[in-house]
Amino acid sequence: MTKAALSSPTWSTQTAFILAAIGSAVGLGNLWKFPYITGENGGGAFVLVYLACILLIGLPVLIAEISMGRRGRGSPPETMSRLAKESGASKLWWLLGVNGMLAGILILSFYTVIAGWGMAYFVDSVSGDFIDMDAKGAASHFSALMGSPETLLLWHSVVMLFTIVVISKGVKSGIEKAISFMMPALFVVLIVLLGYAFFTPGFGQSLAFLFEPDFSKLTGESVLIAMGHAFFTLSIGMGTMMVYGAYVSEKYSVVKASIWIAVVDTLVALIAGIVIFSIVFTNGLEPGSGPGLLFQTLPVAFGQMTGGWFFGSLFFGLVVLAALSSAISLIEPTVRWCESRWSIPRTKAAWLIGGLTWLIGLATIASFNIASNIHLFGDKTFFGSIDFLTANIMLPLGGLLMAVFFGWIMSKESVQKELGLSVYWLRLFNWVLKFVTPVAVSIVFVSNII
Ligand code: PFF
Repeated sequence: MTKAALSSPTWSTQTAFILAAIGSAVGLGNLWKFPYITGENGGGAFVLVYLACILLIGLPVLIAEISMGRRGRGSPPETMSRLAKESGASKLWWLLGVNGMLAGILILSFYTVIAGWGMAYFVDSVSGDFIDMDAKGAASHFSALMGSPETLLLWHSVVMLFTIVVISKGVKSGIEKAISFMMPALFVVLIVLLGYAFFTPGFGQSLAFLFEPDFSKLTGESVLIAMGHAFFTLSIGMGTMMVYGAYVSEKYSVVKASIWIAVVDTLVALIAGIVIFSIVFTNGLEPGSGPGLLFQTLPVAFGQMTGGWFFGSLFFGLVVLAALSSAISLIEPTVRWCESRWSIPRTKAAWLIGGLTWLIGLATIASFNIASNIHLFGDKTFFGSIDFLTANIMLPLGGLLMAVFFGWIMSKESVQKELGLSVYWLRLFNWVLKFVTPVAVSIVFVSNII
């Protein structure tokens, strides 16, 4: 066993690991991104493709990524080097870890900006700004926030500061405690919101929009976005689950944990979608209104429902916490790498990487106001381009390579040992991971390039 493996921290229980992984998976991707990209891509058919991607691509890659992490027991580049050496494969596999770390930093740079919107809304809700708010009021409230780079900068900085402080404390003490009360609370508030949505006139239309597929609305790009989102929402393809897996004991079942993560993550996204589109259709709003969707709809619900002040404040508070537990996981692979590969103390590494990421985030802030007409990829703003590059290219590419490595390069014995499945399930898993997953990802990629 190497020195790094000996000093590797471990989760105290299987539940602690599952909660931390769910904390990473459930975040802005479920509450903010899933509803708005579903709205932009026409609803039902997009949701169906997304669910298929979770099952056929997301879950297998999640299982492979955690297993590889547990076997390699290091930061993503170190894990990949060790596994490559063990399997007699090219040294260059460590670059897969680097791709992941870069993706994590790029995602975090806009993630803290959006989490900052959540914080601003938390404060607004506590101050009673949403009481009696209607759809028009909510729209202008959101535009006012977007039009104020100073306010966005303030909250972006606060969220980044929190992330740095929590990550400095280390994985166990920093993450485990926060998540064990946060996740159940988030679930309760979502159920309350679902109850509210059920009694709105738009509820039926919301279900129809989300679950009645109209394939004429599906384009090649929307399939790519649905697939990319499966990676984003499960936090896979970039080494987060690999580094969380590195802290998992041999005793625990990776497959069971992965199923839990995928199920809870999908449920949270679907409930958020049902709630948000009920409000959209009840108030005659536009489903495809983009990144502001969550922030332009929910204040209307909180403004009108009994106890809205309380639930609104609680909801936005939880959005921030859910975002924070994901933000931590975005920076962990790189911080761990600085620590174990370069012997940089954890706190120093957190400030270094956090500071750099904060700087990149300034461009995202500007892309909602002063630089909104500057376009990088096609008609995409800086924020849109980073989001596209990471979720739709870097993560699927990372995930594809992980599937190839785990399915084709690692020895059968190692795979068998990590998964501990019966012969039948192992055969099914291998077949999906070796053939279905890589072929599906490649087809989506190639068809989009063409
Ligand atoms: N899964 C998170 C979300 O849905 O908000 C975002 C994320 C976290 C993506 C960690 C990737 C990652 F490694």
